[in-house]
Amino acid sequence: MKKLIQKLAINLLRHTSQRYGVITKIPSSQQETDEVPTPTRNEDNAPANDNSALNNDTPELRKTSLQRVHETISHCRKCPLAEHRKNTVPGHGSLDARVFVIGEAPGMAEDKEGVPFVGASGQYLNKWLATIPLNRERDVFITNIAKCRPPQNRNPSATEVQACIGYLHEQITLVQPDVIFVLGRVAAHAILDTGASLRELRTHIHRYNDRIPLLVSYHPSAVLRDPSLRRPVWNDLQMLKELL
Ligand code: URA
Repeated sequence: MKKLIQKLAINLLRHTSQRYGVITKIPSSQQETDEVPTPTRNEDNAPANDNSALNNDTPELRKTSLQRVHETISHCRKCPLAEHRKNTVPGHGSLDARVFVIGEAPGMAEDKEGVPFVGASGQYLNKWLATIPLNRERDVFITNIAKCRPPQNRNPSATEVQACIGYLHEQITLVQPDVIFVLGRVAAHAILDTGASLRELRTHIHRYNDRIPLLVSYHPSAVLRDPSLRRPVWNDLQMLKELL
């Protein structure tokens, strides 16, 4: 009887961690402090930075494949966002990026230039990255859940996310980042397939494909509107630094 209960408990735990991909919870005593949280690692899982099994192609092949994905995006008409765009905004950064940043969708400046995070939130994001210190061109690949601007900067709809998210999965597979850093609720819900609040999603190390560490933080535009979010973001950035 005792054995049966143990077995049921193990199966329940396994199911929960597979479904939600949440591997490590930072103890509440470490949340929202100035101290750098030291994430612990679940020994049953692959080392944090070993995502080599995702893609074994040569750098040249990966580069060509990424160009091909971006070329496909430039012709994409899978959802109504194609009607209104000036440019597609596939993503920008290094193929050897250690950090893969995911935002929500392009805004007006990004739609005009075809490059993600070039407006006010982008300038602010650059400052965040510089504090840990990461160089946007060399260390980071930046993209969005949606590759085209939604009209009036509304959130992308569920069907638009569904139509677009395959490109994001291809980009992650080709870039092979050490860590994925997700900005804001809309992006976090799409990539983690959850409806949980940002409060619940932050301060955990999730795993993309059970392998690549993934952190969630606030969107820079939210922090520009609400300076009280600066401290939690600082903590998130320290967590990101610890994972590199
Ligand atoms: N906000 C986003 O989420 N992405 C951008 O590229 C710009 C602003």
